[in-house]
Amino acid sequence: MTLRVNGDRLRQDLADLAGIGALESGGIGRTAFSPADARAREWYWSRCVAAGLDLRLDGLGNMVAQAPHPADLPPVWTGSHIDTVPHGGAFDGALGTVAALECVRRLAETGVPLRRPVCSVVFSDEEGNYGHLLGSRGLSHGYTADQIAALTGREGDRLVDALAGWTWADGSPTRTRIPAGSVHAFVELHIEQGPKLEAAGVDIGVVTSIVGLGGAVVEFAGRADHAGTTPMSLRSDALLAASAFLIELPEVAAAVGPDSVVTCGLIQVEPGGANVVPALAAVTLDFRDPDPARLVMLERGIAGVARRIADATGVSVTWRPDEPIAPMPLAEPVRDVIRHSASELGLSHVDLPSGAGHDSQNMAHLAPTGMIFIPSKDGRSHSPAEYTDFADVERGANVLLSTVLTLATS
Ligand code: GLV
Ligand code: MN
Ligand code: MN
Repeated sequence: MTLRVNGDRLRQDLADLAGIGALESGGIGRTAFSPADARAREWYWSRCVAAGLDLRLDGLGNMVAQAPHPADLPPVWTGSHIDTVPHGGAFDGALGTVAALECVRRLAETGVPLRRPVCSVVFSDEEGNYGHLLGSRGLSHGYTADQIAALTGREGDRLVDALAGWTWADGSPTRTRIPAGSVHAFVELHIEQGPKLEAAGVDIGVVTSIVGLGGAVVEFAGRADHAGTTPMSLRSDALLAASAFLIELPEVAAAVGPDSVVTCGLIQVEPGGANVVPALAAVTLDFRDPDPARLVMLERGIAGVARRIADATGVSVTWRPDEPIAPMPLAEPVRDVIRHSASELGLSHVDLPSGAGHDSQNMAHLAPTGMIFIPSKDGRSHSPAEYTDFADVERGANVLLSTVLTLATS
């Protein structure tokens, strides 16, 4: 008989986690290293203790839970993240976190013989308040002390300060890197965050590859002046320059390719008074393409427009890029196990790429990695409107369970 997750327990866990950081105005606010993130970790820890699992922390707060196991073989990992974007939804990250916990718990309580351990992992700051896919990047690439010192959040706060008062980390943020091969395989269950599965009426998405991610802060610097007395022709308005720049970005993306996207969701204006001509406008960009060469073209195109606009408007510009995260194909053998698991459970499946970034793209540097998608209602995500029927959640969790069981017994 095929092993199944405990659906009632999974549903309750998802509901309990959704209550942590729930905002009166709707949605969920669990920014990494916030008090709500700490409460979610406390909750997760208590669920691990109740299930008899041990929980380890690393220097960036990545959490790995495991049932005692006699074999000293590289484990199978499964998991996701519990942080959210501002006013995020109840499924992005939370789904893969509670489903992973349920799988590890279910395998432990049924006593099914495993050749190697299965661990449930929660990655820190997947949503990149301080850095794209921060925790998993720490595992796959690591950070130097200088890199850690340079990381700042949306509010301009420093990661080192957030970590200083943070008890959910072990105090060694520069020693998080783990060797390739120390994990046997990694699998993440996630909502699709787009409309394809729902439109096609398919139960399960088998992710073929994950988009490449770039980012930059583009700082336009002009001159503060009086808003009433400075004639328009004498101004050096940093925000007007930034606006002219942003308006051109859709064209830059379209010229690179149909899958290129660029977003500015964050602008900082200084000195920040209604009656002061802006001296500084710093726009934070997120740009993506599934193809590595096109990601580079996109970055060059955007930087070129920034320089041209700065020259034309008489302001100066500084381009501060993030370390890009490369597009990542996922491992065919793991994809095969996912397809087989879905078919065994009588579920339809289709291959599809991910336009969202995921910790899986860092884990793929360490171990053969796969991702399982389930439908998102109306394709909505990074919004309180994010929703997936529980029947789909349970289907996805059962595919995850079957997949990790196969990987842990092989
Ligand atoms: C994560 O959700 C991302 O794609 O930014
Ligand atoms: Mn996510
Ligand atoms: Mn997300």
